[in-house]
Parts: sequence; structure tokens; C-alpha cells
Amino acid sequence: MAPVFFAFRLMVGLGLLMLGQGVASLLLRWRKRLYISRRWLWACVLMTPAGFLAMLSGWTVTEVGRQPFTVYGLLRTADSLSSVSRAQVVGSTWLILGFYLLVFAIGLWVLLRLLREPPHRGEAGPQPTLPDETGGS
Ligand code: HEM
Repeated sequence: MAPVFFAFRLMVGLGLLMLGQGVASLLLRWRKRLYISRRWLWACVLMTPAGFLAMLSGWTVTEVGRQPFTVYGLLRTADSLSSVSRAQVVGSTWLILGFYLLVFAIGLWVLLRLLREPPHRGEAGPQPTLPDETGGS
């Protein structure tokens, strides 16, 4: 019971927080403080993993809440096991993990290389794309 109980509340709580974040951002935009309020920008940084955590919580609610069934009332989890050995499950899990870590490492390496690249002579600087939120024109 406990994982389903808490995962559901976490999911709904994060969902409401994200909704609140949207409403607050509209309010701040209206007051022309959306891009300059440091507290707000930090709150947005802290909220970054909220969607991912809510999704994992929702998934926990359904997967744990359904036990001991795979298909509720029709097929029990114990009867729906595939005929693969423990070694095959462990081996393929490590293989996928290793592959993703490799792809992640290569991606990070490419990004860091791009970041290290200095600006070139005559290159155009950053162009303002956002409207001036400081109250000026
Ligand atoms: C804000 C209020 C929310 C309510 C009232 C709510 C309600 C529910 C309910 C009742 C379920 C179980 C459905 C079932 O039994 O099949 C569920 C599942 C789920 N929820 Fe939420 N939810 C909310 C927010 C969110 C948010 C913000 C996310 C993700 C960003 C999310 C992601 C999920 C996922 C991934 C599942 C599992 C779906 C599945 O495996 O079939 N939920 N939610």
C-alpha cells in the first residue's frame, strides 16, 4: 500500500506545483519580472526534474498498484514470466546500460569540445531575442 499511496500523492503534488508554476509565470510576465527575478529563475531550475519525477511516480502507481496481476483479474504476474534465464536478463541489462553510458559519454565529450571553442575574429556576437523586460522600450 505505502509505495502506491505516496507515489500517487507525489505525482499529484508535483502536477499541482507545475500548474502553479505556469500561473505564476503568467503573473510575473504581466508584471514584467519574468526574466529578471532571480528567486523565480532559481525556482524554475529546482522544478526542472518535476515532470520526470511525476512520470516515474505515476508509473509506480500503476505498476505496483496492479500487483499481483499483469492484467488485472485475468493474468497473474507469476504466470506471465518469459522463459529467459537470470543470466540473460542481467546480461542484457548491463549491455543496454553500457551502451547508453557510452553514447552519453560521447555526447558530453562533443558538447565540452564545442564549449571550449573560442569565438572567431569577426564573428557576430549574441543577438537579443527577448523583449526588454526591465521596463525600458
Ligand atoms: C495533477 C494531478 C494528477 C492526477 C489527478 C493524476 C492521476 C493519475 C491516476 C488516477 C493514474 C492511474 C491511472 C490508472 O490507474 O491507470 C495516473 C497514472 C499516471 N500518471 Fe498521473 N495524475 C496527475 C499528474 C501527473 C503528472 C504531472 C504526470 C507526469 C508529468 C503524471 C504521470 C502519470 C503516469 C506516467 C501514469 C501511469 C500511466 C500508466 O502506466 O498507464 N501524472 N495519474
